[in-house]
Amino acid sequence: MSASYQVTDGVAVITLTNPPVNGLGHSTRAGIVDGVNLANADASVKAIVITGGGKVFCGGADIREFNTPAAFAAPGLHLTIETIEKSSKPVVAAIHGVVMGGGLELALGCHYRVMAPGVQVALPEVNIGLIPGGGGTQRLPRVLPVEQTLQMVTTGASVTSDKLAKVPGQQLIAKLIEGDLVAGAVAFAKEVADVRPMPLVRHLPVSPVSDPELFNKARADMAKARRGLISPQRCVDAIEIAANTPDIDVGIQKELDIFKEIMVGPQAKAMQHAFFGERAASKIPDVPESTPARKIEKVAVIGAGTMGGGITMCFLNAGIPVTLLEMKQEAIDRGVGTIRKNYEAQVAKGKLAQDKYEQRMSLLTTTLSYDDIAQADMVIEAVFEDFGVKSQVFTKLDAVMKPGAILASNTSTLDVDKIAEVTKRPADVVGLHFFSPANVMRLLEVVRSKHTAKDVMATVMQVAKKIKKVAVVSGVCDGFIGNRMFEQYVRQSFFLVEEGATVQQVDKAAEAFGFAMGPFRVGDLAGNDIGFAIRKRRKIEQPDVIYSPVGDAVCELGRFGQKVGKGWYDYEAGKREPVPSAEVQACVDKVRADKGLTPRAISDDEIVQRLVLALVNEGAAILEEGIASKASDIDMVYLTGYGFPLTWGGPMLYADLLGLPKVVELMKGFAGNPHGDPAFWTPAPLLAKLAAEGKTFN
Ligand code: NAI
Repeated sequence: MSASYQVTDGVAVITLTNPPVNGLGHSTRAGIVDGVNLANADASVKAIVITGGGKVFCGGADIREFNTPAAFAAPGLHLTIETIEKSSKPVVAAIHGVVMGGGLELALGCHYRVMAPGVQVALPEVNIGLIPGGGGTQRLPRVLPVEQTLQMVTTGASVTSDKLAKVPGQQLIAKLIEGDLVAGAVAFAKEVADVRPMPLVRHLPVSPVSDPELFNKARADMAKARRGLISPQRCVDAIEIAANTPDIDVGIQKELDIFKEIMVGPQAKAMQHAFFGERAASKIPDVPESTPARKIEKVAVIGAGTMGGGITMCFLNAGIPVTLLEMKQEAIDRGVGTIRKNYEAQVAKGKLAQDKYEQRMSLLTTTLSYDDIAQADMVIEAVFEDFGVKSQVFTKLDAVMKPGAILASNTSTLDVDKIAEVTKRPADVVGLHFFSPANVMRLLEVVRSKHTAKDVMATVMQVAKKIKKVAVVSGVCDGFIGNRMFEQYVRQSFFLVEEGATVQQVDKAAEAFGFAMGPFRVGDLAGNDIGFAIRKRRKIEQPDVIYSPVGDAVCELGRFGQKVGKGWYDYEAGKREPVPSAEVQACVDKVRADKGLTPRAISDDEIVQRLVLALVNEGAAILEEGIASKASDIDMVYLTGYGFPLTWGGPMLYADLLGLPKVVELMKGFAGNPHGDPAFWTPAPLLAKLAAEGKTFN
């Protein structure tokens, strides 16, 4: 039983004991029900307190039980809450730390709730593709204003007990208790022991709604802020039901119906996959969590350009001092100027307090001398993408850095094994591939060279967490996980245009699927010259890789993207709105004419499938080669670094949901198309094997 029972001075105290967050697993639910029944049967007990052992009251469902029979075994959450509501003696929830999801729903079933200050209160189900299914959408708007309930339920964001206690008319928190919570709750329980009738949230009316358009507006806001996601919409529906349904039992049944309906849908699967995938990414199969990490208290960054500046901000934001090293004072001034400008923009928008900005800047020092960074615990190099330049930097670092310092490179294409071999301490070298803008993008590819020590891996994974990145480990290969797959995606986008689609059609189809931006808009934003240079290099290094000439033809016109005012699209001066370009279309027409190719109509479905399955086939190869250790890591790279739609949970989960035999069949169809690169569509051996065995990637 994951709940203990003790009677003190006429009050039964039920303590949830299911670490780490007292999740409402089967044995916890059973413990609560047994405790309440025991207390009701004991004449010496006058009232009941439910509290959480350890640091929190209750974090909600026990995620370890997800998709197992235990999650549904009796007593379920509804029955547990019903047992509390039917108790003949008052039940007081004594809440500290965290009360989330099912934990909050449980508390809403209690007669009273007392809370410590600073408790995080939330219903986060929306973020795993669900709605609260234990009465949360029906009871919360009876104790808080409907507007506040909508905000909490549709975003899943937590609000502190101190804030909620101040909401006018709120009936969520009976009392804030400073100091010993359980003692305070027991004293409170004694005070209310004889109050009859006992108050229940279910007996309260839903708070009045003044704006008749409130729910429609909330749905429209959610459609914009959380594009394509069903769960925020259904959260609004459920709260609207509460507002329009005086009989709470009818409302609770309708909530449960919605919960059951969306629980089995692909979106809930995709969002839960992303939720668990993020947690799984931090685990490295051969690096136990007990591996001692090195202390990282001071960091140095080499290069104050686009990436160096963003990386510096990540550490300053986390309160870690940074020394930024450059070759010339002008470069430092430019880099620091950009950092200041970024922070000032945040201050102007009210997203950062002035004193926090100053505090962060006070953690930054700059230098032109390697002697000043020698004592840093970790140094991250972000200089020009040139092996010669990088090897000079690493030779210097090797000479000056204190023993045990971690030497990291932000290279996006170079061989991290070779960079490590420049030094006499290759075990201390690792790749930390940030994405641009580094202070915004959540993804961090941690590139593990064949030399990297395990404790270095353990350390950088911890550091990543501190600077709020989703770290995914990649082996060494050209492009690592993300860019190696992206290359195939971009190659397909060029073939599609060459064969008959327009640039706009490809982007629109990709965006309708849910990508944040289509491939050509991404190219214009990032700079088409980067891919142009890579293709030039590849023509020498890997002459058998086939490209449609359209990409090079557009770059030869100097159409490098937004930074020069023209790329795959035209841009009016100072604007970012893409305008279809006659020059690009003429360029595409010429490529087709040179090849003697008659353009054909290409469906949006074909566009999406060729783009996404190109990612999948390369992803399968990456998995097979061990560059990624699990399919969910690949999905996390795409969800957090490449704007892949969360609705599908990443390319590998998309393939799983489509069914791998269907994926193989589609690829066979694409291989029958003589244009482009038919050979690419031979399913990677791992994909073919899993499809034949009826298995999935995830
Ligand atoms: P950048 O050209 O904006 O900045 C490079 C900076 O390094 C310049 O300020 C330059 O003065 C400085 N620098 C060059 N040699 C140096 C040396 N020997 N010592 C000290 N400073 C030196 O380049 P960016 O875009 O910041 O790229 C830096 C690295 O990050 C490259 O390896 C690149 O491949 C990688 N990267 C770039 C991404 C991007 O989107 N720009 C994304 C991910 C990685």
